[in-house]
Amino acid sequence: MHSIAQYQDIVSSYFNSISIPKEPKGLYEPITYILSLGGKRLRPVLTLMTTEVFDVDYKKAINAATAIEVFHNFSLIHDDIMDDAPLRRGKETVHEKWNLNTGILSGDAMLILAYQYFEDYEPVIFQKLAKLFSKTALEVCEGQQYDVDFETRDDVTIPEYLKMIEYKTAVLVGAAMKMGAIVAETTEENANLIYEFGINLGIAFQLQDDYLDAFGDPETFGKQIGGDIIENKKTYLYLKAMEFSSAQNKEMLSHLFSIQPSDNSDKILSVKTIFNESGSSKATQDAILNYTQKAFETLSKIEISEDKKAVLRAFGEQLMSRNV
Ligand code: IPE
Ligand code: IPE
Ligand code: MG
Ligand code: MG
Ligand code: MG
Repeated sequence: MHSIAQYQDIVSSYFNSISIPKEPKGLYEPITYILSLGGKRLRPVLTLMTTEVFDVDYKKAINAATAIEVFHNFSLIHDDIMDDAPLRRGKETVHEKWNLNTGILSGDAMLILAYQYFEDYEPVIFQKLAKLFSKTALEVCEGQQYDVDFETRDDVTIPEYLKMIEYKTAVLVGAAMKMGAIVAETTEENANLIYEFGINLGIAFQLQDDYLDAFGDPETFGKQIGGDIIENKKTYLYLKAMEFSSAQNKEMLSHLFSIQPSDNSDKILSVKTIFNESGSSKATQDAILNYTQKAFETLSKIEISEDKKAVLRAFGEQLMSRNV
């Protein structure tokens, strides 16, 4: 098994080497653009890592890992349209740099390109990968729809929120790992356990994404700080602040989440103050820790050596301390 840094190097040099068709430029340039902006590449790293956790060479998983990352990048292009986001990985989003239609079509093409990466697997593995991929992709769409539906609802509950983030984010992290298990042809039980590990890690990851969206450092986060507040996203931060606040602050927060001012700076500042003073920031950080711990508990049930568990645990810890 390699180190986390080595898997990251393998993935980034692989992405530098893949060739995307050239013409028509209007379709393919945005694809090359978004893929070249990099990002953390955490999903493909998890696929390769999981394959080696189950004692098979990572090279066998490189196509599955690429499929997952291309799909992820497709989902980001469409997500940025849906969230009206100007910045991604510190650069202009695709629909800002080009236009809406470009974002839609280049995104669609990436979904197809992602599928093509499964084509070279032998039939039994191919079928398992394609089945998991289709199920996961549909769940991501469902999660994204809930996310948008919640913007205009004022009665979203914590269980509803958790289901939404499980679908829009965690299932892909789980699937990235389960694909590694499928490629490695480990037992069904191990594959399901590693999926569960990924789901809990993915929930922690999205909770932290929500936290950083409000409190991250604009220099490192690469996205517009306060974007979720501007869009009235019903995040854990918001829901816990509604739960913990005084009647007066609750009313204020609910008012702030019903307006769309032309200048958002006051709204963002007021909301962040309530998040901090209500204790919801702290509650979110506790939840990140809890879901990460929950992921680690699953590890104890998997039949792998302690040093391999240590690598997976280190990965989870690294994610928790991130600021990008
Ligand atoms: C962003 O994913 C979308 C979420 C699910 C929060 P990442 O934070 O993994 O984005 P990149 O790929 O590293 O840019
Ligand atoms: C995105 O959630 C999940 C998917 C892309 C499917 P967010 O909307 O929170 O992701 P960011 O913050 O824009 O990366
Ligand atoms: Mg978004
Ligand atoms: Mg979104
Ligand atoms: Mg976000």
